[in-house]
Amino acid sequence: MRYSRIVGTGGYLPEKVLTNHDLERMVDTSDEWIRSRTGITQRHIAADHEMASDLALHASRKAMEAAGIKAEEIDLIIVATTTPDMIFPSTACILQDKLGARDCPAFDVQAVCSGFIYALATADMFIRAGRCRNALVVGAEVYSRILDWSDRSTCVLFGDGAGAVVLSQSDQPGILSSHLHADGKHSKVLAVPGSICDGKVQGKPFLIMEGNTVFKFAVKILEEVVREALTENNLQASDIDWLIPHQANIRIIQSTAKKLGIPMEKVVVTVDKHGNTSAASIPLALDTAIRDGRIKSGQYVLLEGVGGGFTWGAVLLRW
Ligand code: UT7
Repeated sequence: MRYSRIVGTGGYLPEKVLTNHDLERMVDTSDEWIRSRTGITQRHIAADHEMASDLALHASRKAMEAAGIKAEEIDLIIVATTTPDMIFPSTACILQDKLGARDCPAFDVQAVCSGFIYALATADMFIRAGRCRNALVVGAEVYSRILDWSDRSTCVLFGDGAGAVVLSQSDQPGILSSHLHADGKHSKVLAVPGSICDGKVQGKPFLIMEGNTVFKFAVKILEEVVREALTENNLQASDIDWLIPHQANIRIIQSTAKKLGIPMEKVVVTVDKHGNTSAASIPLALDTAIRDGRIKSGQYVLLEGVGGGFTWGAVLLRW
């Protein structure tokens, strides 16, 4: 059997840190409100010259170094992003050029905060179909560019960053299963509704969100999709060694873990330091737990996330 396996991870956070106390000077908010409602204490913000592809480049180089893979060995690049460098070409094509990788398919996936799950599932299918050997899968976001910095209900929640993995062909799993879902009837609940017409932005170019609706939906479907992954693999929640959720809000993470009966000691949390980095949050959390030695060979790791669309999904893997 042909499987795919993550053989290297990398992450990158821009240098500038924006704390809750900094935000207190920008909008009518407080460190206490942000920490108690979200668990966030700080987030990173890209410099003016940094684009999603620049963040992706740093994270990709680290993942490729960890994997011992050179640019010429990469034969597929997928970038999950909602904040691409430009309308086109894709951030994946721009990244390919910056990396010096040549003549491999490269494309972006747009599934908002579930983007990395979608991208990883897609790369797994390419590998299992025998169409590539070494895929670079990246989540890279500069949400600071699509936030209304005078809207306290959204600007305190997000941050910038990138996470990457090298996914390689293997005769041992690796990725055991992936589970993707979407329901477009919720498209107005979490959106950047603006569009471009006649060279101008029509409508609002900033993120809008019905926070409560997203919160309730997230807790419900994340439990469902994790149970779907467990059932397909004949596993119990107690078999999972590490749950790596999308890092949107500590209360969503805690509620999901509680419903599943997974203790918080088995949950990787980075939302406190990174904020919500959308498609970058899961690979950044994975990279954190790999580099600090928490995740060990043979362990079951479950990635799950939900985002605008709504989109949601999970990937179960054996490290
Ligand atoms: O990646 C997926 C996308 N996003 C998410 O997963 C986010 C999901 N939703 C959430 O995390 C939460 O709903 C929020 C953190 C966004 C909001 O928390 P909440 O407990 O649902 O608060 P709320 O929206 O019900 O607002 C409570 C109060 C309101 O004041 P009133 O109407 O009770 O007087 C808000 O105006 O908190 C107020 N508020 C703030 N106060 C201080 C909203 N934002 C802030 C703020 N600082 N930054």
